[in-house]
Amino acid sequence: MRVLFIGDIVGKPGQDYVREVLKGLLRARRIDLVVANGENATNGRGINRLACEALYDAGVEIITMGNHTWDQKDSEALLEEDARIVRPANFPEGTPGRGYTVCKVAGKPFLVINLMGRTFLSQLDCPFREVDRILAAHPHIRHVLVDMHAETTSEKLAMGWHLDGRVSAVVGTHTHVPTADERVLPGGTAYITDVGMVGPRDGILGMDRDLVLRKMRTHLPVRFQVAGGPRQFCAVEVDLDDESGRARSIERIFLCEPG
Ligand SMILES: [Fe+2]
Repeated sequence: MRVLFIGDIVGKPGQDYVREVLKGLLRARRIDLVVANGENATNGRGINRLACEALYDAGVEIITMGNHTWDQKDSEALLEEDARIVRPANFPEGTPGRGYTVCKVAGKPFLVINLMGRTFLSQLDCPFREVDRILAAHPHIRHVLVDMHAETTSEKLAMGWHLDGRVSAVVGTHTHVPTADERVLPGGTAYITDVGMVGPRDGILGMDRDLVLRKMRTHLPVRFQVAGGPRQFCAVEVDLDDESGRARSIERIFLCEPG
């Protein structure tokens, strides 16, 4: 079973690039499931219905989120209604939406979980205890992908080792900068600290670099905008055993427009 996980999709340039390249990748690689982090898909902050529909049309099947989950005005209603969107599971009890979702892939139940780290981010509930609780509630599911949306490499590595041998894959998101540490851990869990992003290559994390620089140099209030220019596409393909759910391999995918 082959799963493609696409890193943070940033704004319209990110959406458009996914639409342009994804169908070809799916055909060439014979992918069974596509999961993408969409928390920056609408103008870099959150995701609205329009962006969700564009990503579904492009071939994305499940969307994970992060610290920008609530940044669009229809976020709450959208996450309540659409079971294909997963927000961090360690938000406080009673938060709208869902922290995990179960779909069917190649006839097998497949669990997608979203978690958020706490270092330099909101002080949510403990992601380690929350993921333990979710796994204990789904003992029959062998195919599990976890998107660990976090700022620090250490917190993501800790989650990888915490879940090694218990889930199929732990993929990190949020920093938009891909790391080169993809591997299958000894227990059979595919791991990467950060998948990277889909969006403008020459901005700063996908945002217009002049605006980010002005903010950093002056500390005046600046409204960030998604950058233009050449786009990059970051993803990983994870190959899983159909029966056990253990990972056989994880491969980093990086595409970039010339320019
Ligand atoms: Fe984020």
